[in-house]
Amino acid sequence: MAMKTISFLSIISLLALTLSLVIASDPSPLQDFCIGVNTPANGVFVNGKFCKDPKLATADDFFFSGLHNARAVNNAVGSNVTAVNVNNLPGLNTLGISLVRIDYGVNGQNPPHTHPRATEILVVQQGTLFVGFVSSNGDGNRLFTKTLNKGDVFVFPEGLIHFQANVGRSPAVAFAALSSQNPGVVTIANTVFGSNPPINPNVLARAFQLDPKVVIDLQNKF
Ligand SMILES: *[C@@H]1O[C@H](CO)[C@@H](O)[C@H](O)[C@H]1NC(C)=O
Repeated sequence: MAMKTISFLSIISLLALTLSLVIASDPSPLQDFCIGVNTPANGVFVNGKFCKDPKLATADDFFFSGLHNARAVNNAVGSNVTAVNVNNLPGLNTLGISLVRIDYGVNGQNPPHTHPRATEILVVQQGTLFVGFVSSNGDGNRLFTKTLNKGDVFVFPEGLIHFQANVGRSPAVAFAALSSQNPGVVTIANTVFGSNPPINPNVLARAFQLDPKVVIDLQNKF
């Protein structure tokens, strides 16, 4: 009987372990903090970072400086995203949150993209942005947009394609919080037309209802 109980319990705990590995998302912390480190260098890859011994934590583990600095926007899209996430602020490990500063040149934009692991809440600090997101197929791909001025806030729900465009006459700046220590970003144009190696042009031609020559033209741009 005791034997049976033990094996039953071990099956349950195995099941729980398997489930916790399968349902991989930003976890609820199991301790006050778990500062990410890149060691043991040769360790197995875990879902997140290894944790520093909490007793060795210092204020610097929770600190990042420099988000007051504007970034260069002289690139193809006219914007620049400065991310503060677990990769440059290790104290964020397991806390399910991160931050970005976005600079937009005149006519600049943060092109359509998604964050596979995070909802985003954005506040405009300077300038005027036209922002929007598109709901998923099941919701009819509805477009939700707003023109935002200084102090205005907008939310982009997790996983949905969204964008921001500077429609003012001066540079714009926004800050955004994201509900993941490592939200990830999938820029639609770069992902679809700039994959490495390229997706077969015939596949994209059918998908986008375009001439394959137009697809190849697009692929050469990304
Ligand atoms: C963003 O700005 C930094 C510093 O100004 C620059 O080094 C970097 O190349 C810029 N990124 C892009 C995509 O333009």
